[in-house]
Amino acid sequence: MRQGVTHAMRLEGVVSPPGDKSISHRAALLNTIADGSAHVSNFCVGDDRSAMLQCLRGLGGQLRRHESCSVSGADECFEVTGLGIDGLQEPGDVLDAGNSGTTMRLVSGLLAAQPFFSVISGDGSLRRRPMARILTPLRMMGATVSGRQNGSLAPLVFQGGELNGIEYDMPVASAQLKSSILIAGLSANSPTTAVQPAASRDHTERMMAAMGADIAIDDIRVTVRPSRLTSMNVAVPCDTSGAAFWLVAACAHPNASVRINGVGINPTRTGVLTVLEQMGANIRMVNVREDAGELSADLIAESSDLRGTEIAGDIIPAVIDELPVLALAASVASGTTVIRDAAELRVKESDRIAATVEGLNNLGARIEELDDGMSIKGGASLSGAEVRSHGDHRIAMTMAVAGLVATGETTIDQAEAADVSYPDFWETLATLR
Ligand code: S3P
Repeated sequence: MRQGVTHAMRLEGVVSPPGDKSISHRAALLNTIADGSAHVSNFCVGDDRSAMLQCLRGLGGQLRRHESCSVSGADECFEVTGLGIDGLQEPGDVLDAGNSGTTMRLVSGLLAAQPFFSVISGDGSLRRRPMARILTPLRMMGATVSGRQNGSLAPLVFQGGELNGIEYDMPVASAQLKSSILIAGLSANSPTTAVQPAASRDHTERMMAAMGADIAIDDIRVTVRPSRLTSMNVAVPCDTSGAAFWLVAACAHPNASVRINGVGINPTRTGVLTVLEQMGANIRMVNVREDAGELSADLIAESSDLRGTEIAGDIIPAVIDELPVLALAASVASGTTVIRDAAELRVKESDRIAATVEGLNNLGARIEELDDGMSIKGGASLSGAEVRSHGDHRIAMTMAVAGLVATGETTIDQAEAADVSYPDFWETLATLR
């Protein structure tokens, strides 16, 4: 699908992005292996949700959708009947993680500990993404697992095994890797420690702790001991990464005021707020509240005089998914912005450094590709053009926001990619103008 976006004279409105993808995935997976049953409301929407649900159901998971939630009063929820830590069943077919790296890596942590055979695969993009990073520690724990190209690419094949705890120095600050190890660690016969090079999103450890796991968090070291979990109701906050598109749209547009309700503000996710604040953004946070160990708030963003900044070092994991849209903010800011230490962007759903630079430069931005980031000369006047999403949801949505700021019309190819995490994105965009 090709989608046109024309310049908006004014952006104004109130939006609620879909439920947070990272928290939804953990709520479904951990409740599936817990004791009891629980309701998960505001569960994320989109193709990645289907991937996680399908994989869990393939393992015997019971996740029933209700059109209204008797616990939270929400319009929709999933009732998850826990199978217990040892209640999963051998899948009758290949598990399909679709486009979702989180599904493949977190479910692999489960599969590693099962006494049965299983295979997990995904779409063309996911089958090109690095998997040795999870297979290495899972093998060290005793799992029998292999994959294409010497265990570096999916499909991944698990043959079960008894797991031992390990202490593992993670080579990358990846929450998916950390979570895979910790999930396997629940079923190991001794404590498992993941040591991160820098803090990454901590939803897994927060949720495990709230569900009664024996887990200790000491800055970048997380240790889990073999544990059973107790089911927990979760009202998922709105996706911080989905909110980022509207934050940047409002701040980068000269005539805008947008309120985004119920956004997750877990400190390991709010790098986008820290960076935008550094850039002089006009954003207010109101109504802070907490549910199931996670904070949320309403955010009000308005037109801002943005200035360039440096984005590098330990903040990168907290802002990794928002870097493409922040590159757009930097393109219209005054001064130069440099993004470094973000080589991980090259192994996301697309090479997001190349895709961001190509798309925004097509619109008139002045961005230079670096091996591990971008150097962005601000002050660009963007004008509409044809741009490519590379089939990547975050690139499609970044280009759409650029189209609101640019003069004329911007056309985005494979715009349906937004469905992966934000199926209502195009309708929401239309309500703001
Ligand atoms: C995610 C972690 C991040 C992020 C992805 C979701 C998660 O990936 O980019 O969108 O839910 O754990 P990495 O952990 O691989 O950096």
